[in-house]
Amino acid sequence: MTAVPTTDANLDEIRGGALAALENVTNPTEADAWERTYLGAKGELTAFLRRLGSLPADDRPAAGRAANALKQELTAAYETRSQHLAAADLERRLAEDAIDITLPGREPALGVVHPVSRMIEELSDIFALMGFQTVFGPEVETGRYNFDLLNIPSDHPARDVWDTIIVESDREEIVLRTHTSPMQARTMEQTEPPVRVVVPGRVYRYEAQDASHEWMFHQLEGLAVDTNITMADLKGVLRELARQLFGPERRIRFRCDFFPFVEPGVDFAVDCAICNGQGCRVCKHSGWLEMGGAGMVHPKVLQGVGYDPKRYTGFAFGLGVERMVMMKEGVGDVRAFAGNDLRFLRQFARFAV
Ligand code: DAH
Repeated sequence: MTAVPTTDANLDEIRGGALAALENVTNPTEADAWERTYLGAKGELTAFLRRLGSLPADDRPAAGRAANALKQELTAAYETRSQHLAAADLERRLAEDAIDITLPGREPALGVVHPVSRMIEELSDIFALMGFQTVFGPEVETGRYNFDLLNIPSDHPARDVWDTIIVESDREEIVLRTHTSPMQARTMEQTEPPVRVVVPGRVYRYEAQDASHEWMFHQLEGLAVDTNITMADLKGVLRELARQLFGPERRIRFRCDFFPFVEPGVDFAVDCAICNGQGCRVCKHSGWLEMGGAGMVHPKVLQGVGYDPKRYTGFAFGLGVERMVMMKEGVGDVRAFAGNDLRFLRQFARFAV
């Protein structure tokens, strides 16, 4: 056995072993390991080059050239192999991630407009045609706007804790508005007559729930103030509303009622469109469907916001929005609107967004 194997034999061994091992390399990790074993700083070829010094001087140039040639050959082989592996890897990942673009897509679930929102839009549109602007007000109100400026004094039963959800009562009375009427004073404070606004929005009452009572519901307030406004204007506007909503045949009815912020005050009803006023289950055999309260703005309310009641008059009204939908769509239970039952809401799918 020779102590130092001949240079050529050594290089041939390294070459044969390296190329055979490269054949078996199947992934980038193995390729890295291969590179370290054969070409790296601690690899076989480097070790061979280090041993060159121990060769007879005459053999060194040839051995050095042969070793460098082998290094180039193995480096090239390694690069080719790596490229193959990378390409194969890419192919595999593409195949794995492939999507079938011919499959039918998943249909996105489109929402619909809530019937109450839809009614508010419809009401806004109807009143816009009669010159009313739609404005919005805060749902958390002060006692001053919710009551005082509406001529509801502190000892009035409506201020009783049983009807009103009180948020704070220490320094100032803060409530969840019990109606949209506080926007009457807020609007008038912001502008001089003429005023023509409608105010849709949520209102809150501390109240037991049943088929016709909710602790949260929607109202739409109306207010018109100008010189020479009379009850005939109020009647004309509300009759037009009834006709736009329920058809040209409809008639309306006013009856005396009391609200502290109007004088005179009325409740108003529309004759039942289902039975044409003859009496049926929907109108509880009365022939009439109650729509809301209304009246001529009380002089004290006008005075409270600095309007001269001798110069200006006005009318106001308040509608229950849920009531309007119930009458129009035949909904029997007000709790359905906020009940979050999709089977109920899907019936209004025609109110597409
Ligand atoms: N704010 C009253 C309520 O919630 C409804 C109402 C009645 C509003 C008469 C008005 C009105 O503007 O004139 O019961």
